[in-house]
Amino acid sequence: MATRLVSLLCLALGFQQASAATYSRTSSREGTDFLSAFEWQAIDDPTHGRVRYVDQASALNQNLTFASGNHFILRSDYTNKLDPNGAGRDSVRIQSLHQYTTATLIFNIRHMPQGCGTWPAVWTVGANWPNQGEVDILEGVNDQGPNTATLHTSSGCTMPASRSQTGNALQNDCNVAVNSNAGCGVRFTDSRSYGPTFNANGGGWYAMERRNTGIKVWFWSRNDGSVPAEVRNGATTINTSNWGTPVAFFPDTSCDIASKFGPHKIVINLTFCGDFAGAVYGQSGCPSTCNDFVNNNPSAFMDAYFDFEWLRVYQ
Ligand SMILES: *[C@@H]1O[C@H](CO)[C@@H](O)[C@H](O)[C@H]1NC(C)=O
Ligand SMILES: *[C@@H]1O[C@H](CO)[C@@H](O)[C@H](O)[C@H]1NC(C)=O
Ligand SMILES: *[C@@H]1O[C@H](CO)[C@@H](O)[C@H](O)[C@H]1NC(C)=O
Repeated sequence: MATRLVSLLCLALGFQQASAATYSRTSSREGTDFLSAFEWQAIDDPTHGRVRYVDQASALNQNLTFASGNHFILRSDYTNKLDPNGAGRDSVRIQSLHQYTTATLIFNIRHMPQGCGTWPAVWTVGANWPNQGEVDILEGVNDQGPNTATLHTSSGCTMPASRSQTGNALQNDCNVAVNSNAGCGVRFTDSRSYGPTFNANGGGWYAMERRNTGIKVWFWSRNDGSVPAEVRNGATTINTSNWGTPVAFFPDTSCDIASKFGPHKIVINLTFCGDFAGAVYGQSGCPSTCNDFVNNNPSAFMDAYFDFEWLRVYQ
């Protein structure tokens, strides 16, 4: 009798754990909060971009970082022509001090970088890459929308061909060694999810839920009537079960999320050209060559900025 009760209880608890998707807000960043929650990484771009990442003091000094009220702005330089033999365009790469495992992140973004040659990204990554995985939430190049959300892992993490998502899978093997680190990407169908069209519509909300049973990414454009009120308001508690079908769903069917993904930091960066934007520049309808364009047309980068209204974390 007692044994039966215990196993029944375990069953009930197990079921609850698998289906519970209700979380409490554990952090909320707005305006100047970002300055103490992230570090500015003045490092070389591992993806060979035409960029020079600056530290926080320089970023504030050059107004490449600006925080006030509910605006947190990250931008690249848009006034200087560059010496083709010198450093790349000044820009920023920030990384959160906190790290997260199973958490849900909501980014309320008014504006994202646009312009030929730009390669902006909002993503999360473990210290030991690729063994602790990478989740690209918002990423693209040369103003070419819509967005693509992608996982990058060590070998042994693949996605089922059929799953409950509104986006279109590009490749189902997340292994970085396959197809030059393409990862298992899911392309969105909503053109408002990226670049100039995202900006023209006032931006919107990106959310990423990471659980050991799967990773989900949602996007709602600013005036999308289907945005849940708790997302729009960044409420103190959320229930992701009510958010509808995600744009991208990466289930644990043949990917052990718990072992393929370690503790992650949030990274927000803006680079130019390099391994991705540079490689596909010719097919983007952009003028000249990528590096020449970035070197010689500073004013083309006036709109190469992120404006975050807030970032909220739920656990
Ligand atoms: C910038 O973001 C992309 C996002 O996926 C990443 O591949 C690239 O390495 C990043 N650059 C730096 C310097 O972190
Ligand atoms: C810095 O950037 C912000 C946001 O774009 C702008 O409102 C402000 O006027 C700029 N400050 C200076 C000194 O240019
Ligand atoms: C979360 O939403 C689901 C689906 O509507 C519901 O079944 C569940 O009871 C909700 N959880 C809580 C704690 O409200």
